[in-house]
Amino acid sequence: MKQVMKIPPRSTRRASSAVRLAIIGTGGMANHHAKMFTQVKGCRMVAACDIDAARARTFAETHGIHHSFDDCAKMLQEVEIDAVSVVTPDAAHMPVTLQCLRAGKHVLCEKPLALNARDAAKMTTAARKAGVVNMVNFSYREWPCIQSAALAVRRGDIGEVRHVEASYLQAWLASKVWGDWRENPTWLWRLSSRHGSKGALGDVGVHIIDYATFPVGPVSELYCRLKTFDKAPGGRIGDYRFDVNDSATLNVEFANGALGVIHTTRWAPGHSNRLALKICGTHGTIDMDSERATDRYRICRGRDLDRSAWKEVHCKPVPNNYTRFITAIRGGHAAEPDFARGMEIQRVLDAAFASDAAHAPVRVRR
Ligand SMILES: NC(=O)c1ccc[n+]([C@@H]2O[C@H](COP(=O)([O-])OP(=O)(O)OC[C@H]3O[C@@H](n4cnc5c(N)ncnc54)[C@H](O)[C@@H]3O)[C@@H](O)[C@H]2O)c1
Repeated sequence: MKQVMKIPPRSTRRASSAVRLAIIGTGGMANHHAKMFTQVKGCRMVAACDIDAARARTFAETHGIHHSFDDCAKMLQEVEIDAVSVVTPDAAHMPVTLQCLRAGKHVLCEKPLALNARDAAKMTTAARKAGVVNMVNFSYREWPCIQSAALAVRRGDIGEVRHVEASYLQAWLASKVWGDWRENPTWLWRLSSRHGSKGALGDVGVHIIDYATFPVGPVSELYCRLKTFDKAPGGRIGDYRFDVNDSATLNVEFANGALGVIHTTRWAPGHSNRLALKICGTHGTIDMDSERATDRYRICRGRDLDRSAWKEVHCKPVPNNYTRFITAIRGGHAAEPDFARGMEIQRVLDAAFASDAAHAPVRVRR
């Protein structure tokens, strides 16, 4: 059962009026947020905030936003805001989110929700206490293939799940497909624990863990290997020391007894951003690959089983996270994926780091 929502008394928004939104952290991904929120009916972007005042100002100008700030507390005090989108680097998600929750704002927070499950739990508790809509931006939930596949698995279309193969491949350390990572802080902080990064596992591993467990169910135990490869003389560029994982492989057991492998890397030339998932059950297999399509998956089942033949399944479009966030606020109901889900994924991450450190399998806390 989802929690019953109540709109906090501090919000002065009338049910019929537009949701007044602020974007906090105005770097690379924030531009995507702004572009998407502009297209959502019933949403008005009213403020932008970044610790870099000039960046916030330029961002506000670019997206036609009236107010820009370099201090979140000041923004919350001076502008009437109903909701915020937190798009700061990972280490700032918790402090910024808690500050906004204390002010009674609805929060869409970027992934990973926090740096560990304990912090994610604090955020989940605070959001429940505030009684606001809380979502974590697992973006690939927006793909029709994963939503339809999840329904198909739950319906029993492929029988009992026995085996899972999930991977998320990126190429930016081995190419200039997204520009030269050596020259841009947006990539450099992702390589440095001092800048709050948890490596490839924290950055995109969270996506593929969500992607695999959404249709299959939770992971109960895992064995994880993490690796950091040489990429610059002395292992650093300026202030950024390259000490976080570039690659992660997880050998997992799901709570339903299925086995699987989940892996991710930033060293996959030729695959700028590829998510692939294969779910094998007692009566069939579902297979999806974002390089092939995101609005369909293929399935082998029934009469096709003995010929190993596949059929394409075309999937209905689904609303994106930005639309679902605003719709939930306007409707006064909860939306998924919520902070509790973000915390669940964070527990898998915590177990993965513990497993890598111990060179041993670790059970995932539920
Ligand atoms: N859902 C997705 O698919 C997806 C994709 C890309 C990035 N992200 C997430 O979005 C977040 C931002 O990533 P990015 O690539 O835009 O990073 P970025 O470095 O390009 O931008 C981050 C911005 O936040 C600002 N900032 C830092 N601390 C702040 C604070 N306390 N308050 C306000 N502003 C602050 C920085 O000055 C910078 O302008 C990360 O958590 C990342 O994991 C998610």
